Amino acid sequence: MLRAVLLPTFCWAALARGRQVWSLDEAWRFALEESRPRSCAAGTFPRSLPGRCPHLAKQGRPEDGGPGSAAACRAACCEDVSCNAWQWCGPNATCEAPNSCWKGLIDLANCSTAGQWQGEGDPSMRPKRPKVGQPCDHEQCQVHFNDSHWELLDVPHDFVVAGNFSPHADKSHGYLPYKVGWYRKRLCLNVEEMQGWLEFEGVMVRSQVWLNGEFLGDHFSGYTPRLLDISQVTLKSGCENLLAVRADATSPDGWWYDGGGIYRHVWLTSVAPVHIAPFGLYTPAVVVGKIDRTEGLEYADAEVRPTVELVNQHNTSRNVHVECSISDGGKFVTSKDFDTSLAAGASLDLALPHMPLPGALAIEGPI
Ligand SMILES: *[C@@H]1O[C@H](CO)[C@@H](O)[C@H](O)[C@H]1NC(C)=O
Ligand SMILES: *[C@@H]1O[C@H](CO)[C@@H](O)[C@H](O)[C@H]1NC(C)=O
Ligand SMILES: *[C@@H]1O[C@H](CO)[C@@H](O)[C@H](O)[C@H]1NC(C)=O
Ligand SMILES: *[C@@H]1O[C@H](CO)[C@@H](O)[C@H](O)[C@H]1NC(C)=O
Repeated sequence: MLRAVLLPTFCWAALARGRQVWSLDEAWRFALEESRPRSCAAGTFPRSLPGRCPHLAKQGRPEDGGPGSAAACRAACCEDVSCNAWQWCGPNATCEAPNSCWKGLIDLANCSTAGQWQGEGDPSMRPKRPKVGQPCDHEQCQVHFNDSHWELLDVPHDFVVAGNFSPHADKSHGYLPYKVGWYRKRLCLNVEEMQGWLEFEGVMVRSQVWLNGEFLGDHFSGYTPRLLDISQVTLKSGCENLLAVRADATSPDGWWYDGGGIYRHVWLTSVAPVHIAPFGLYTPAVVVGKIDRTEGLEYADAEVRPTVELVNQHNTSRNVHVECSISDGGKFVTSKDFDTSLAAGASLDLALPHMPLPGALAIEGPI
């Protein structure tokens, strides 16, 4: 079956200054969040959780080294500072996995009412989700916190694999304890404001990011990347800029070894106020003519139909000139251009003129 025409397509909006990308992989400071001792007195978990609560992590069954009773499950939650709820699935067929303990930090309001689960929650530890722009209320994300005693490392990094094996940790997560880690990095810049974004390709599992003490955003999956806009943040010319990341690995995404921390690359991208949005270029190639088979290869008339998402962060409307070109092994094939106008603050999805590719080489089979 004919699947695709494989030629690279590039589009750019005519700019005074292009897009610049810097790697932020080097020279992070790292420390685990310290567990504070916690009272396990009666009354710590006053709220009964009879239904199934979502997002709790399985702590294993007794045969896998996990807690072996409701009381042991409660004690395991008590010992863990990032646990506000535990649930025990007893020897009852309607529970998910008989004789298993589940614990974590959750919104207690969201437990369902089904099943024969038992458990309790601590409402005083409701997870807080900061708002974008809100000042940081942990010492670890303050600009002037002294982190010189923290470990100096480069990412990608996994702090779970550096931990000590424990018979009390979950078998399916490699008998390794899953904790909370903090990363801090100084950014040396020569500007006081920047249009652009930070890209975290992967932080396991739940992450929160601050720049210069301001909350930039959070992300609840370790398996997908996250882009964070920095255009509103006040920066400092020099090295007094501080990027801080909290990586909470205590509720793994999978039932396999997930790891924890900034385990993929980190990038900083700066763009001009008028730019193509991140992931804003889509260039499907469509076969429009009859397929001609010659000497085992397939040729057909094809067409590239680009769409591009343009952003104008200026306060005034701007005329934009967009040019798309296709090349084959560095050799210019064809190009199209297009003029448009973008209102102040506008973001616009544009279908560009189709780009014909007569007699293009096609490939057979999956790509
Ligand atoms: C299992 O569930 C039934 C209701 O379906 C209940 O009557 C019984 O007490 C439960 N057993 C245990 C051990 O929780
Ligand atoms: C709890 O449920 C509400 C309503 O369905 C939802 O809006 C909210 O996001 C849920 N919270 C969590 C932590 O799942
Ligand atoms: C930071 O702490 C270290 C000791 O851990 C100390 O030597 C250093 O002077 C401190 N720096 C500042 C700026 O306070
Ligand atoms: C854009 O407008 C805002 C408020 O109207 C103003 O504070 C800001 O300085 C303007 N920015 C530029 C680059 O003109």
